[in-house]
Amino acid sequence: MNINNIIAISNRPRVHEKGTDQMWTDPYISKNLLEIHLNPEINLASRKPDSIKASLDWILEYKNQSNLNILDLGCGPGLYAEELTMRGHKVTGIDFSENSIRYAEDQAKAKGFDIKYFCLNYLEIDFENQFDLVILIYTDFCILLPEEQKLLLVKVKKALKPCGVFAFDFNNDRNLDQKIGAKSWEIAEQGFWSPKPYLCLSEPFHYPEKQVLLFQHTLIQEEQVPKVYRFWTHYFSMTNIEILLGINGLKILKKSNKVLPEGDCWLGENISFVIVSSKE
Ligand SMILES: C[S@@+](CC[C@H](N)C(=O)[O-])C[C@H]1O[C@@H](n2cnc3c(N)ncnc32)[C@H](O)[C@@H]1O
Repeated sequence: MNINNIIAISNRPRVHEKGTDQMWTDPYISKNLLEIHLNPEINLASRKPDSIKASLDWILEYKNQSNLNILDLGCGPGLYAEELTMRGHKVTGIDFSENSIRYAEDQAKAKGFDIKYFCLNYLEIDFENQFDLVILIYTDFCILLPEEQKLLLVKVKKALKPCGVFAFDFNNDRNLDQKIGAKSWEIAEQGFWSPKPYLCLSEPFHYPEKQVLLFQHTLIQEEQVPKVYRFWTHYFSMTNIEILLGINGLKILKKSNKVLPEGDCWLGENISFVIVSSKE
């Protein structure tokens, strides 16, 4: 193990530089993630059931029609897709985690729900004029790099019917100091990141000029090249998201930062929701 290598890869990277590995699609980590998604007592990976219901209530209050055709991007294990199905809508879920999609499909089959799931990168979807509503929930818009955000908006606009709307949530610029947090480390014989002994160095970085936080986790294991997981987490004021959407041909129809119950810095008024449509 070369300490200088570890120092080099744990340093503050250039803005938007990608890590070496992807957390969501890793076969071992995604099993642990699924357990976290499904734990109704915590707000990690997926939010608690009351927040899921509150988010859908807020969205469907605007799009108040029955039998909507809905696309759930980054659907995870299908918690929103199932709730929407129970409310009488037709749902297609997309996620690139094989583990989550397999679980979601098994659940739909067991419960007799007619939900279509696809294991796919949502930046590669190619739907046209098909959906009344597209959702992307758990601030996933914020972890896309700027060119990916642009691409996603193009894909979503194409997927929507002329009267269709896109609903998503984002980290706003409230309580940034708490959101940035502190650096920490974890040492374990086995744990979230690996079934083998590891040391994980976690450090947040702030790039105020780009309005992005980086949550970086460097995983060090015996006789292995260290792995670096990077989560570039953008934050937006309502004005800035409106400008970004406007540049990409979208306008805000409904907005709120009171959708989620109060809690830590990733809940309540620290997260904003918008419903948007094409400007044309
Ligand atoms: C924070 S979780 C939220 C899951 C779900 N929306 C929820 O709130 O229960 C993010 C999900 O998005 C998926 N994901 C992230 N980037 C993706 C991409 N580019 N294409 C497809 N799925 C993606 C992950 O696998 C994960 O299931």
